Amino acid sequence: MAIVSTVGILATACLRDDASPARDPGEPLPGLAAADLQRFAEGHGLFNRAFTAVEGLGPLFNQDRCSSCHDLPVVGGTGVETVTKATRFTPPDVCDFLIEEGGDNVQERSTPALQALGIDRELIPPSATARAIVSPPSLFGLGLVELIPEADIVRREDVDDNDGDGISGRASRLPDGRLGRFGRKADIATLDEFVDTALRFEMGLTTYLNPEEETLNGTLIPRDADPAADPEIDARMLALLADYVRFLAPPIRFTAAATDTVAQGEAIFNEIGCAACHVARMRTGPSENPAFHRKTIELYSDMLLHDMGAESAGVCGIAASPTEYRTARLMGLRFKTQYLHDGSAGSIAEAILRHGGEAEAAGKGFERLNQAGRDYLIRFLASL
Ligand code: HEC
Ligand code: HEC
Repeated sequence: MAIVSTVGILATACLRDDASPARDPGEPLPGLAAADLQRFAEGHGLFNRAFTAVEGLGPLFNQDRCSSCHDLPVVGGTGVETVTKATRFTPPDVCDFLIEEGGDNVQERSTPALQALGIDRELIPPSATARAIVSPPSLFGLGLVELIPEADIVRREDVDDNDGDGISGRASRLPDGRLGRFGRKADIATLDEFVDTALRFEMGLTTYLNPEEETLNGTLIPRDADPAADPEIDARMLALLADYVRFLAPPIRFTAAATDTVAQGEAIFNEIGCAACHVARMRTGPSENPAFHRKTIELYSDMLLHDMGAESAGVCGIAASPTEYRTARLMGLRFKTQYLHDGSAGSIAEAILRHGGEAEAAGKGFERLNQAGRDYLIRFLASL
């Protein structure tokens, strides 16, 4: 089919936009000062470094380095490794992370010292009402996402669907009043905090913010199974890792030869209601760092939580029900091979067709398109 080969060309024929500096995925934001570039390089080193049990890895963990999960198409991107989560949800809105049974993040591996005690992994907490697979989003452009003024996100909320378009959208409000931006359930407010949880939950590394070792399903782990002194990650390392993520540039769009069909695809995207949630552009607020000051970011997300229907049900989040997810950013979609929060959709078309709940009408709109319309839309999405 002709469209397949055109998409293939799209994926390889990248014409540089001369107005902006050449930028490959994984590169730092343009305009960073030399000191920040130095931090980016050091943070990249830590992100890529395989931690050992002697340095504090585990004793329960999922992977030994950040880049085990965030490595496609390059370090800092998405990945095919996944994480298992489990929570207990009590309707209408109580989400229990089951801390006393080991927490919502279920570690699937253990170090040799723990294996020697007969423990290979953590078990799904017995009180859980749901478990879910969660796949890693790409981290490109997240420093800009962090600086989008809260008011610009919140003003798109339509909790009671007053405009009657079937799409309600809710900001993720954390218990301390801050806005949740990061994580598929928008559970976390800042990159520093996300990096802290990633270190602890994915790698079993204690940090200066949280120096206590995780438990094994709620039971303290014998001290000699993890002899490294706590905290295993100091303030400097955590800050370098967070700055590495913060300084990763958003991906540049592919401008393909067939720009007219891409433009037609974008028009269809707007017409059938995709842009109601996948908002093309947002702008950062003022920043003392010129690389972040009032920059436009083409993220294709409104950063709000939406109910995606019963078939998407998984774990709950701090502010999200089992069926609510933060609108996935479509920027960098061309680098993905697995879609949706659990990576269970094998193609872009499948991901769209599985949109339910608030997004059902848009998904149906896609279903109703003729083949050419679908092809244009997919070509547009593959240019992001
Ligand atoms: C075992 C796999 C795995 C490892 C290792 C891992 N991550 Fe992730 N990462 C994920 C998954 C899965 C998510 C989505 C989690 C969620 O939605 O709650 C994620 C999400 C993120 C996010 C938020 C992205 C967004 O869209 O909001 C950041 C930032 C991040 N990871 C940074 C890191 C850093 C830094 C490290 C190393 C300290 C790391 N990750 C290690 C799997 C991993
Ligand atoms: C009501 C809001 C809403 C509408 C309307 C909507 N989406 Fe989505 N979209 C989402 C959410 C939320 C996710 C994340 C779902 C998940 O992770 O399981 C998502 C995920 C996706 C993904 C997968 C991205 C990835 O990285 O895995 C694609 C592709 C996508 N949407 C395209 C579209 C297209 C095309 C349309 C129009 C036909 C559309 N969406 C309409 C909210 C919406």
